Amino acid sequence: MKSVIGWGFIGAGGITKRVMNDFKQLGDARLAAVYSRTGANAEQLAQPYGAKAYTDVETMLRDPEVDAVYVATPHHLHMEHACLALSLGKPVLCEKPIAPNAAQVRTMVEKARETGTFLMEAMWTRFFPVTRRVMQWVSDGAIGDVHYLTADFGFGASENPESRLFNPHTAGGSLLDVGVYAVSYASMIFGGKPVEVLSRSRSTSTGVDARMACLLEYENGQMASLYSSISGSTPQEVRIIGTKGHIEVPRFWSPREARLFVGNQLEEEFKDEPTGEGFGYEFAAVHEDLRAGRQENALIPLDESIAIAETLDRMRAQWGLVYPFEA
Ligand SMILES: NC(=O)c1ccc[n+]([C@@H]2O[C@H](COP(=O)([O-])OP(=O)(O)OC[C@H]3O[C@@H](n4cnc5c(N)ncnc54)[C@H](OP(=O)(O)O)[C@@H]3O)[C@@H](O)[C@H]2O)c1
Repeated sequence: MKSVIGWGFIGAGGITKRVMNDFKQLGDARLAAVYSRTGANAEQLAQPYGAKAYTDVETMLRDPEVDAVYVATPHHLHMEHACLALSLGKPVLCEKPIAPNAAQVRTMVEKARETGTFLMEAMWTRFFPVTRRVMQWVSDGAIGDVHYLTADFGFGASENPESRLFNPHTAGGSLLDVGVYAVSYASMIFGGKPVEVLSRSRSTSTGVDARMACLLEYENGQMASLYSSISGSTPQEVRIIGTKGHIEVPRFWSPREARLFVGNQLEEEFKDEPTGEGFGYEFAAVHEDLRAGRQENALIPLDESIAIAETLDRMRAQWGLVYPFEA
């Protein structure tokens, strides 16, 4: 791998602009190219960094200056874009949710394994120092045996059928946009898939989930109670409850701090202020994997991305939510 990795961004929307603010601080990467259906959008993102703008995705992927690819199109396009990149041997960091259903995730993982090419879900939460400290507390037994976790992630958006957030054709809805963070967090803490999934949702007028609540039960009786919403904001907090204490993680999806309580006494507080929003952590992890020749990341393994997608599928099956491209 080159000393400075050239990235090609597929998509030039909201998230790519936020990511660029942090990405440009990395010393060992540069933006080489941007694809967007609309030339002006690609050009706007590419131009300040001297990157090339493309309106044909395959041509961008064949650019020899593109060493790695960041897929940041709406969810329903992740599989198509990631698989094309993988089939051309380009490593892929793919925005969350890695795909809208488990069948698509499996196809992507098979393509990565068949081509021996790196693939990772951009579940950036896992790479924050705060999340790593939380995992350390849990694995050190600081709160004893972990029995229960709560997580909520909600924000209020006005219903707009044109927005990818509300459009069933782009796999809109709260579950895939923000609920995935809560499900992924529970998976990180408890490991494996839940044995029981009980969930309910309420729909937007466009037919995707405005909000959902669920209870997940894991093999040895551990439970997670999760909530997501695009119809109202929530505290956006994780609480992890054990036999000896508990952990609180405010703004758990991109955390700045976590608190460890033993009994009900505050035992330790860990704080970390990232550069910018903190997207640099996941890119640095990908760089480390690529330089080490690894094909997946140990903090968000591909089999876990499949398992998380299977849990999301089970919830949607309980609500009867089928996206038009799945029918
Ligand atoms: N990690 C995070 O914190 C975070 C935050 C926000 C979003 N995301 C994820 O990032 C992905 C993109 O979200 P976003 O908010 O950036 O979306 P967005 O603002 O709507 O941008 C989507 C991009 O995809 C392009 N595109 C290509 N084909 C498209 C099609 N058929 N329909 C619509 N757009 C198309 C759009 O540009 P053209 O119209 O020019 O083609 C645009 O550049 C989602 O999967 C989302 O879950 C992650």
